[in-house]
Amino acid sequence: MNKNILITGGAGFIGSHVVRLFVNNYPDYNIINLDSLTYAGNLKNLTDIEGKSNYKFIKADICDYDSIKSIIINNEITHVIHLAAESHVDRSIKDPFSFAQTNIMGTLSLLQAAKEYWNGDFSNKLFYHISTDEVYGSLGESGFFTEETKYDPHSPYSASKASSDHFVRAFGDTYGLPVILSNCSNNYGPYQFPEKLIPLFINNIVNNKPLPVYGKGENVRDWLYVVDHARAIDTIFHKGKLKETYNIGGFNEWKNIDLIKVLIKVADRLLGREEGTSEKLISYVQDRAGHDLRYAIDATKIKDELEWEPSLQFEEGIEKTIQWYLENKEWLENITSGDYQKYYSEMYQK
Ligand code: NAD
Ligand code: TYD
Repeated sequence: MNKNILITGGAGFIGSHVVRLFVNNYPDYNIINLDSLTYAGNLKNLTDIEGKSNYKFIKADICDYDSIKSIIINNEITHVIHLAAESHVDRSIKDPFSFAQTNIMGTLSLLQAAKEYWNGDFSNKLFYHISTDEVYGSLGESGFFTEETKYDPHSPYSASKASSDHFVRAFGDTYGLPVILSNCSNNYGPYQFPEKLIPLFINNIVNNKPLPVYGKGENVRDWLYVVDHARAIDTIFHKGKLKETYNIGGFNEWKNIDLIKVLIKVADRLLGREEGTSEKLISYVQDRAGHDLRYAIDATKIKDELEWEPSLQFEEGIEKTIQWYLENKEWLENITSGDYQKYYSEMYQK
């Protein structure tokens, strides 16, 4: 059956991988990438597919209900994959309003526009909302987040994502909108904006700049290669059950400081430096406010019910990622030459 798929946030990190996968793998689907191109959106992430006949880009803000509704009507949208969001915890601590605006009001505007256009005819329709494991809060030394874990967000970012998840479920329950959600752990890989841990540290290692480790570096995250997340989204889109939630994770937990040492080891090797040279760049700085100790996903449901599993081992993924940043210096320089300097000096007082 014909599918006209609106992918929001498709010029961002994860969104660009999802757009690429759908455009390349499904020539019969029409893919409409809607993105307002904030600091995190970059059409250079998609140069390899921009000429394809099943792909179209539209610049629009998800908070602008009238525009969103016209775009959905004019493109006869049957499916929405919603990734557009403000996504960085540190920015949410400095400016919570923009997170509430985009993540909550923007999601609401998309839900309402889809509901109005579909007008009760939900056959061959889907609203798929992409969320994060951070809505579940923080774990102690043991245990995992399952789909039944109670929401307990701590940062303005995770609070805004939790709220958007509630709105999506509420539209499913109240209006019968065909919704699916997934909550994923930390992603890494090509095209990630260098404000997040892994690309920021790769960039600083290359440039011999300090590596700002928050607190004691003992916080734990579960890391997943971004292409594996895009594969999971593809699987859930095609095989997921309506109204269900799927947790996506890498079965790959790392204490920050241990992960940083792996990054340094692989980067030093690829840069032709003696092993461990860049360890001297490690610099412990003030901890993030409200810093969650540990995230860990139990991804059994998606594995057992939809037969999805991560395809890459972490060391392989990290090597591919560092290699990509080394080979795409121009992409990185374009980003780090503008407003990024201002963000960086305000954030890290450097
Ligand atoms: P990102 O910040 O790299 O990209 C977000 C994209 O959304 C950008 O292209 C930006 O221009 C666009 N956008 C922002 N506000 C918009 C608006 N008002 N209207 C239209 N477009 C707008 O984020 P990401 O890391 O790719 O994350 C994508 C989604 O996945 C988010 O919903 C995030 O919560 C979720 N997620 C991210 C991770 C992760 O590790 N990065 C993990 C789990 C879930
Ligand atoms: P981040 O990439 O911001 O993802 P999230 O906060 O969504 O998990 O950070 C990953 C971990 O790395 C988190 O525990 C915070 C830590 N961190 C640092 O120690 N230094 C940094 O400069 C950054 C950006 C993150």
